[in-house]
Amino acid sequence: MSGLFITFEGGDGAGKSTQAELLDAWFEERGYEVVRTCEPGGTRLGSALRSLLLHGTVGEGFDEVGAVDPRAEALLYAADRAQHVANVVRPALERGAVVVQDRYIDSSLAYQGAGRVLDIAEVRRISDWAAQGLWPHLTVLLDLDPDTAAARRRARGGTSDRLESEADEFHRAVRSGFLALAQADPDRHLVLDASEAVDELHTAILASVAPLVSNAG
Ligand code: TYD
Repeated sequence: MSGLFITFEGGDGAGKSTQAELLDAWFEERGYEVVRTCEPGGTRLGSALRSLLLHGTVGEGFDEVGAVDPRAEALLYAADRAQHVANVVRPALERGAVVVQDRYIDSSLAYQGAGRVLDIAEVRRISDWAAQGLWPHLTVLLDLDPDTAAARRRARGGTSDRLESEADEFHRAVRSGFLALAQADPDRHLVLDASEAVDELHTAILASVAPLVSNAG
């Protein structure tokens, strides 16, 4: 596979989308094909799963699904991932594109593993199976104190989704989960303090991305 696969991870409100968009623009200016995508979502099946996972319904006119068992939740994220990897990510990498993606397997490990207290090794096994063993070349972890992240989300307005509405303790466990994953696999991770200025973060990300660009073309 000749492309380049970069994922952004972190709590809700850490600024992943902003940095992913800046990176997307940087690659496009240099003539690369960029596939900018996200999980959950990124396919038609994924959009339905996203709506189910974040809002508890597949759409207007459908009943709310109520509480979702943590294992069912983990499997739904894995189903979304399987569809997305097979239909979007792997084909893009095979034709040499750069894939810039919000959230991937680490989110399942942090949210369903550390957050929902499922066994992280088991969540990894089902996610790895769903993704047929595809891991990113680089994962940028935007680390942010959950209180600051919650304040950012409030300032942004709008309604909270199911995960965002979880208790502070959940968000703290998710943050520790992400940091532990980064510590266990430092070669794949770039950990940044997401309270830094947008420009500074972008510069730091480029410093890690530049040495990888010969992968894509
Ligand atoms: P996202 O759209 O990235 O939300 P935000 O832009 O607010 O960060 O992600 C939606 C939610 O899905 C987020 O709260 C984390 C959750 N999630 C999981 O719990 N497990 C997963 O495997 C993935 C991909 C996301």
